[in-house]
Amino acid sequence: MSKEVSKETEDRLLSPATSETDVALDVALRPKTLKDYVGQNEIKESLGIMIEAAKGRKETVDHLLFYGPPGLGKTTLAGVIAHETEASLTTTSGPAIERAGDLASILTNLGPGDILFIDEIHRLPKVVEEMLYPAMEDRKIDIVLGKGPGARSVRLDLEPFTIIGATTKIGALSSPLRDRFGATYQLAFYAEDEMRKILGRSAKILGVTAEVAALKALAGRSRSTPRVANRLLKRARDWAQTRGTGTIDAAAAEQSLKLEGVDELGLDATDRRLLETIIKKFKGGPVGLGTLAAAVSDESETIEEVYEPFLIQLGLVERTPRGRKATEAAYTHLGIATSAGRAAGQAPAGQKKLV
Ligand SMILES: Nc1ncnc2c1ncn2[C@@H]1O[C@H](COP(=O)(O)OP(=O)(O)OP(=O)(O)O)[C@@H](O)[C@H]1O
Ligand SMILES: [Mg+2]
Repeated sequence: MSKEVSKETEDRLLSPATSETDVALDVALRPKTLKDYVGQNEIKESLGIMIEAAKGRKETVDHLLFYGPPGLGKTTLAGVIAHETEASLTTTSGPAIERAGDLASILTNLGPGDILFIDEIHRLPKVVEEMLYPAMEDRKIDIVLGKGPGARSVRLDLEPFTIIGATTKIGALSSPLRDRFGATYQLAFYAEDEMRKILGRSAKILGVTAEVAALKALAGRSRSTPRVANRLLKRARDWAQTRGTGTIDAAAAEQSLKLEGVDELGLDATDRRLLETIIKKFKGGPVGLGTLAAAVSDESETIEEVYEPFLIQLGLVERTPRGRKATEAAYTHLGIATSAGRAAGQAPAGQKKLV
């Protein structure tokens, strides 16, 4: 059972607004058990042990913290844990809890063994965060009744519960909060065979036949990120249904990737614009994050949390103490000669053909 305190923004990564059917499909695509959850093997093993042990003792699992770039499966894991422990899951997010009173009401409404999932936990207001400390540590909260000189503080006991926090920005979490989690897990980008497995599973759920070559093409160009893979699969399915044979074959994969502007490394127009800006406007960098954000008219946070992790993972961007730098691989990918190459008389390679 899922009680939703606030609606989370799903599918936001590199994606326009989602339709109702998209949302329904996304729910269906989300694995519900540890067994169905592809990859992140070390995390799964550790969680499996923790869940089994807690069940054996008839206790709740420790408070858990998941971090990593968007779309890698943090929210999904929270759902999996709730399912595996047969716990009721309440979902909220840092920015949705504005006042300490909001958190007090959520916490006092939790039943024994319930799980509270707090997405974007790094965005909890300070006063709310401070109420979480004793809640997590001693299952107690202090609430203030009344105002002014007559105000008094009352200590309330809470039922045993588990907090699962998720964040794309672990560095923004205060250490007192971080320390109160029993375990912290960093989600990694997925390997290509795992991406293929996720796509194969999703195609089955969508009820569409997909050829191996098509799954391979989509897997290699999904930013090693399940959310992106599922989105590209849906676009390939649309293409197959309207322009192709109904089956997701190599043509459907290629043509839909082309329409989405996804190149052979899985970069989209925004990624390429980011790289091009560092190279052309800032001579390859280093350029400060704020300056770069202003130059591409985007938010620093979005660049740092959504776009940059994958570019760094691919070795196209480097984070240096003085800012972001484009690597030689970025020049090569965009078909731009490096200044060293130009000095040596190398002609600019011209825009490399994408897709
Ligand atoms: N390990 C996995 N196996 C299969 N599918 C997955 C896996 N991880 C994620 N997915 C799919 O990817 C989608 C996005 O995952 P999820 O919403 O859990 O990401 P997230 O890490 O919470 O992202 P955000 O930081 O944006 O909240 C899910 O709806 C699910 O269908
Ligand atoms: Mg999430």
